[in-house]
Parts: sequence; structure tokens; C-alpha cells
Amino acid sequence: RVFAIILAGGVGSRMGNMEKPKQFIELGNKPIIIHTIEKFFVMSEFQKVLVLCPRQWIRHTEDLIRRFIPETEKICVIEGGETRNDTIIQGITYIEKEYGLTEEDVIVTHDAVRPFVTHRIIQDNIHMVMEHGACDTVLSATDTIVCSEDGNAISSIPDRTKMYQGQTPQSFRAKRLKEIFMELSEEEKAILTDAAKILVLKGEKVQLVEGEVFNIKITYPFDVLVAKSLLKGETE
Ligand code: CTP
Repeated sequence: RVFAIILAGGVGSRMGNMEKPKQFIELGNKPIIIHTIEKFFVMSEFQKVLVLCPRQWIRHTEDLIRRFIPETEKICVIEGGETRNDTIIQGITYIEKEYGLTEEDVIVTHDAVRPFVTHRIIQDNIHMVMEHGACDTVLSATDTIVCSEDGNAISSIPDRTKMYQGQTPQSFRAKRLKEIFMELSEEEKAILTDAAKILVLKGEKVQLVEGEVFNIKITYPFDVLVAKSLLKGETE
């Protein structure tokens, strides 16, 4: 079975003073989170699409889904966690409780604030995770990546051809990810803010899936402007 986990548990602090988290900002005629959910719910591969958001936004999210999406049986809104990884684990725990978990069950986790993900990217994730157990969507680095240990001077410049920028979806065997996460110490959890990093650190293989330049994460007010013009491009 394949489950989608839409991560909307954050508050969007880098967006500045907002009356609502960034995933609820309107883009075109509907909120960002609806654009994202739409990409997933139409795909028959998904048994269920779980949307995880802050507790006080659950009702609002359910209302939006009813307003904008014709068939809602496949979608379920639940409470997210303190950190992004906690939100993923909450999603897995819910699946475990409702449906039981087998070794083969996979999750495709995706940032609610990346509404421009494509069906090609999602399909590649599903194929890759089914075959290899874990994958991460990435983009070849276009800029040279410079590493600085102290934030003042360059410590190294890695070979650009080996550098990639991480996007989402990130897909995993659900049971395995949760088992590994549960074994982590609090210190490890604090460092391992990226779900794929957890597996990499534990020596597990995470395959690459090619992302898209336009699969942006809406993080700063500038990104909303970019998103609006991308959307305009899509509909022109
Ligand atoms: N996210 C989540 N649960 C958390 C924190 C983040 O599901 N506890 C989600 C966000 O809602 C977002 C995605 O992870 O869709 C990517 O994270 P980020 O852009 O960092 O979102 P925020 O944490 O909301 O933003 P900021 O860091 O600016 O506060």
C-alpha cells in the first residue's frame, strides 16, 4: 500500500508576521495547501492522503478540503508534531493504528508548501521506494556550493557535479523509518532534521529522484511572488 503524507504542521515563521501559517495563503483562487493536496488525491496509487497540520488548524483545513475538493473520502486531516520529523512519525503512527503496518507499506512525504510538484515526480518516487525502500527528490546544484565551518571563511568547496539540492517528496518504507527513528537519542534527533538523513546516517541507501527547478518551497514572502508568477505560467 502507498500512503501520501502531506506535511503542513509548521507555522511558517520565516514568512514574517502572518495571521495564518503560509500553507493557507491564497495562490490564484485557492490556498497553497489545496493546490498540493490536489496533486496527490487524484492519483489512484494512494490508498489514503493524510494531511497533518497544527491542532488549531485542523477544522479550517477540513473546511477547505470540503470546499475545494470533490471527493474527500480518501483524505484525512490529523494533528502534526513539534518538528517536521515528529509530524512524519505522527502520520506513520496513525496509519499503524488505523490500518496496521506491514514491511511493504510505503509513505510519500511531501511539504504542503511545494504546490508545484508534478505527477511525474510523485510516480518516480512511488516506483523508486517500492523497488529500493527509500528515495529523496533532488535537483543538481546549479550554483557552486561553498562550505564554511565558522560562517566567516571558506573551509572547502565540494565538487559541484556531486552536489544536489534536496526537495520533496521523500519516500520511505513506513515501518522501517519509524523503527530507526525510535532508536535515535534526543541529541541525534536534534541534528537529524531531515528524514532522509536519518537513513543515510544509519547506513541505509536512499536513491535519488530527479526534481524540477519549479518545485519550489514557499518559505519567504519573495517565494509567494515567484509562486504567483509560476501559477500564471501554468494557466496561460
Ligand atoms: N512542517 C511540519 N511539521 C512541523 C514543521 C514543519 O509538517 N512541525 C512542514 C511545514 O508545514 C512545511 C514543511 O514542513 O510544509 C517544510 O518546512 P518549512 O518550510 O521549514 O515550514 P515551517 O516550519 O512552517 O517554516 P519556518 O521554518 O519558516 O517556520
